[in-house]
Amino acid sequence: MEEEIRFFKLKTGAETPSVGLGTWSAAPGVVGDAVATAVKVGYRHINCAPLYGNEEFIFYLCRIDCALKKLLDDGVVKREDLWITSKLWHRESNGGTLDSGKARAIGVINFSVNKLGDLLDIARVPPAVNQVECHPSWKQTKLHAFCKSKEVHLSGYSPLGSPSNEREIEVLKDPILNTVAQKLGKSPAQVALRWGLQIGHGVLPKSTNEARLKENYDVFGWYIPKDLLAKLSEIDQASSFFLSSLCAYFHFVWD
Ligand SMILES: NC(=O)c1ccc[n+]([C@@H]2O[C@H](COP(=O)([O-])OP(=O)(O)OC[C@H]3O[C@@H](n4cnc5c(N)ncnc54)[C@H](OP(=O)(O)O)[C@@H]3O)[C@@H](O)[C@H]2O)c1
Repeated sequence: MEEEIRFFKLKTGAETPSVGLGTWSAAPGVVGDAVATAVKVGYRHINCAPLYGNEEFIFYLCRIDCALKKLLDDGVVKREDLWITSKLWHRESNGGTLDSGKARAIGVINFSVNKLGDLLDIARVPPAVNQVECHPSWKQTKLHAFCKSKEVHLSGYSPLGSPSNEREIEVLKDPILNTVAQKLGKSPAQVALRWGLQIGHGVLPKSTNEARLKENYDVFGWYIPKDLLAKLSEIDQASSFFLSSLCAYFHFVWD
């Protein structure tokens, strides 16, 4: 039996939960409920950012409708069992945050092999995580291998291919993914997520829908056998990616 892969151990020694709830594009009015439902379902990792415009509804303790405060007050979860990812703009403030003991690890987002290599050459505090787009149609094979060789955990965003946004490729409709899902009696989303865990990266699916929150967390206690995992590696790779499709000024050179 394949291991469950509920956590990934970072080079800081901290263990990050492998499935995190994405919160980008979750409306401020619903994000709190989504977080509360997710935590009750079992999620222990919430991926946030000030840029998403909804963070205050998740964890600013000054707010009455703050989802996490209520969960903590009600004893649904302990703070030390929750992993909250947020974002800061400057590396120096990141290093300072780690020094202050307020963070278990620091990481970067959207760093290619070249950029990560340059950073690792000079960083006082090397990043433990690189959060990038990753799903069966955008496997980031070279970056994956590089991160592994440098003990940088890869955290995969848009793991379902961000179906609500117009994309060149609709990941969840991929025929190979659907064939594998059918064989396993799972949904395409579950196979895409489980694929990520077995390939070795964390996944950050977003949902505000209770049924899909449950579906997306139901990726433990079963696994994709080797032959079907190999089949998934035949999926065509996209030629564009999230940031370039969203913002023309992001001229990242991916690998
Ligand atoms: N660091 C970065 O630059 C960056 C960039 C992009 C994203 N992210 C992070 O990654 C998270 C996830 O990425 P994402 O939001 O782009 O896309 P995603 O998680 O790949 O897809 C989310 C979309 O899929 C739908 N969905 C969820 N579960 C589903 C299922 N089981 N079957 C079918 N559809 C399903 C959701 O709708 P419902 O809500 O209606 O279920 C939502 O429209 C973000 O929320 C954010 O936290 C980070």
